Amino acid sequence: MTILVTGAAGFIGSNFVLNWFDQSQEVVVSLDLLTYAGNLKNLDSIKDSPFHHFVQGDIRNRSLLNLILKKYQPRAVFHFAAESHVDRSIHDASHFVDTNIVGTFSLLEEVRCYFNDLDIEHQKIFRLIHISTDEVYGSLEPYEPKFIEDSQYKPNSPYSASKAASDHLMRAWHGTYNLPIITTHCSNNYGPYQFPEKLIPLMILHALSEKSLPIYGDGQHTRDWLYVKDHVSALRCILEKGIVGEIYNIGGGNEKTNLEVVTKLCEILDELRPRASKKSYRSLVTFIKDRPFHDKRYAINSAKLEKTLGWKPEELFETGLRKTVTWFLENPEWLDHILSSEYQNWTNQHYS
Ligand code: NAD
Ligand code: TYD
Repeated sequence: MTILVTGAAGFIGSNFVLNWFDQSQEVVVSLDLLTYAGNLKNLDSIKDSPFHHFVQGDIRNRSLLNLILKKYQPRAVFHFAAESHVDRSIHDASHFVDTNIVGTFSLLEEVRCYFNDLDIEHQKIFRLIHISTDEVYGSLEPYEPKFIEDSQYKPNSPYSASKAASDHLMRAWHGTYNLPIITTHCSNNYGPYQFPEKLIPLMILHALSEKSLPIYGDGQHTRDWLYVKDHVSALRCILEKGIVGEIYNIGGGNEKTNLEVVTKLCEILDELRPRASKKSYRSLVTFIKDRPFHDKRYAINSAKLEKTLGWKPEELFETGLRKTVTWFLENPEWLDHILSSEYQNWTNQHYS
């Protein structure tokens, strides 16, 4: 049996694939365009495995998708490939529309052709798992209940709007063509291999380079943090037990303000990698101009997933954050590789 993973060289996709290899010997076909966010080094440990096939390619390339599906005959497709960074989407939304909407459309059309040609037994087990985000629900006021699967779509950034559009395509292709699709909405992930444009790895990188720690606005924006390995275990559980056509929210139950997150990070770094000056990393915190239309609060209610499929997150925020900092400290060569000119251009432009 085989599974196909799009966006497998990105942060969550690579954690998913590596975990898959820890748990089983099922063949994995990884498809990734290797944009700035995709890094083959993430999959280094399985590069010689006969059970792993890496294909560099674009989900918008329908003939390539057609070829991969016919050749490898996957029993499931995990769709991670996306442009994923809100700030980039604000600067230029075009790649977000191209990949997240047009790319998802082309994947759906090719999966539809593939699925229709499967025999009944294979159709029964086939699943397309679409990895979406809680950001499609927009922003919560402090007094509002957490997002549930039926919460209204109110995306506020070009990123979340493009993900919302891809969710609608998924819903329509399930209803209209009976494609066995399950969509998930996950909260903010953190952990190994996260590209240092997102809050937690960016702060670690800046702290280690003695650069300021840029917090948008007043730092009171809240996110619900989930350790990436818990996201991966939820996706495995959903493949195994999830009901076709359903939506599952995945959250960590760890609502923290950005200032709380950065303060905790500084404390861990002070302990694990004290500065030469002996000052706390907290002295590097700088409040900068807020992101436009910045979502104030995300919080996920995962009761459906926990009660109906029996999943629950294992990692506490404190322990997950410590593991993440330790991973970044122990893998400086990964960071060196990431610090390519493309990334440098982006940060120079963004934080100058
Ligand atoms: P990422 O940016 O780290 O990785 C995305 C991957 O997709 C990269 O490897 C990139 O090369 C690849 N890719 C981009 N365009 C492609 C294309 N046209 N064809 C093929 N591959 C392409 O993102 P991530 O943080 O790993 O997120 C993965 C998925 O999870 C995304 O769909 C995202 O919306 C969703 N998600 C992320 C979070 C989070 O906190 N990071 C939370 C909830 C949901
Ligand atoms: P981010 O990691 O970009 O994820 P998202 O915007 O998808 O939630 O940002 C997480 C939070 O951290 C968000 O409220 C924006 C804030 N943030 C900063 O304050 N400074 C930064 O440099 C970055 C990248 C994010």
